Amino acid sequence: MSASAKSCSTFPSEPRQVSPLIFLGVAALLICAVLAVSLFAQEKNPFASDPKAAKLGESQFRANCAFCHGLGARGGGRGPDLTRAQKRHGNSDADLFRTINEGIPGTAMPPNGATQQGVGMTAEEIWQVIAYIRSVEKKAPAQPPGNAAQGRGLFYGSAACSTCHMVEGKGGRLGPDLTSTGGVRSVEYIIESIRNPSRRLAQGISEAMKEFSQEYETVTVVTSDGQKIAGVVLNEDSFTLQMMDAREQIHLLEKDKLRSFEKSRESLMPAYDMKTLSEKDLQDIVAFLLSVGSQGGVQ
Ligand code: HEC
Ligand code: HEC
Repeated sequence: MSASAKSCSTFPSEPRQVSPLIFLGVAALLICAVLAVSLFAQEKNPFASDPKAAKLGESQFRANCAFCHGLGARGGGRGPDLTRAQKRHGNSDADLFRTINEGIPGTAMPPNGATQQGVGMTAEEIWQVIAYIRSVEKKAPAQPPGNAAQGRGLFYGSAACSTCHMVEGKGGRLGPDLTSTGGVRSVEYIIESIRNPSRRLAQGISEAMKEFSQEYETVTVVTSDGQKIAGVVLNEDSFTLQMMDAREQIHLLEKDKLRSFEKSRESLMPAYDMKTLSEKDLQDIVAFLLSVGSQGGVQ
């Protein structure tokens, strides 16, 4: 009879030899589970104002978040400035934890783990990232220097932004809807988009995770009957092109029937230089976009 069979057969009659091990194992599991649950269910950051944790959080941030939220968390073309004192989706530690762990459905903000083939951050690492965000956060809500009411007037009036852009359901459709732009893009990015639109073409806000996200590319075609149409690409495959022209007409075209077809990365948006839009008017429009953007949040 082999030793293992013997120990098996004697197991029921000698429980005391085995139970301490099982007990230890179960206890360890329980402790782990309780620790994990408590880190996840915590209301306050266990690493609050711990500079070492903030440092660790900074490297997590570089690896997982800076791609969208920029270096130093100051925001970029794909994600908002996280140094703003006021957060749209809640300011408490628990709110930040939820946002980072679960993402923000319907936006480009991904749930934890979605950016690196499913390997997410541990609860501890999320808290370290929050410690980092707190360490770079400004203490008071920034007062944008511009005047939002004045900016609204310019947007729908003399600056003519609304001929191409919608805010809160009012305006044109050739350019992207700017209702949430203030909450999602950094101020530097918005200013750059107005002063120098071709530098970086806008990307669909909810599509940043796609490898090739939709861009507002400019396209000019000449149809077989000699009609010239300029506009933005809505959709395209090898054979067909869907585009919107400057009068918001949508065209579905077969590429092999076109006399010419040319795409460019030159934006259809005119560059607003200092002569067309003074620095003060620009600040007012930015203040307007920030004011509507921050109301668009969940809370
Ligand atoms: C693919 C781009 C992308 C990545 C990667 C990303 N975010 Fe975001 N994040 C966004 C966008 C876009 C929003 C704004 C969503 C909205 O409100 O429309 C956002 C919102 C947030 C908010 C809420 C801001 C507020 O005002 O309430 C926090 C906090 C945040 N992100 C933290 C992080 C952290 C931490 C990471 C890394 C672990 C990260 N994000 C990774 C795009 C991204
Ligand atoms: C003739 C049409 C037109 C006018 C007028 C116009 N835009 Fe644009 N705008 C566009 C198009 C098309 C895009 C997308 C391509 C690009 O990024 O340049 C765009 C992009 C933008 C973006 C970038 C959005 C993003 O999410 O990246 C901002 C911000 C913007 N416009 C603001 C303005 C403001 C403010 C005004 C008025 C001062 C204005 N635009 C006037 C057509 C226009």
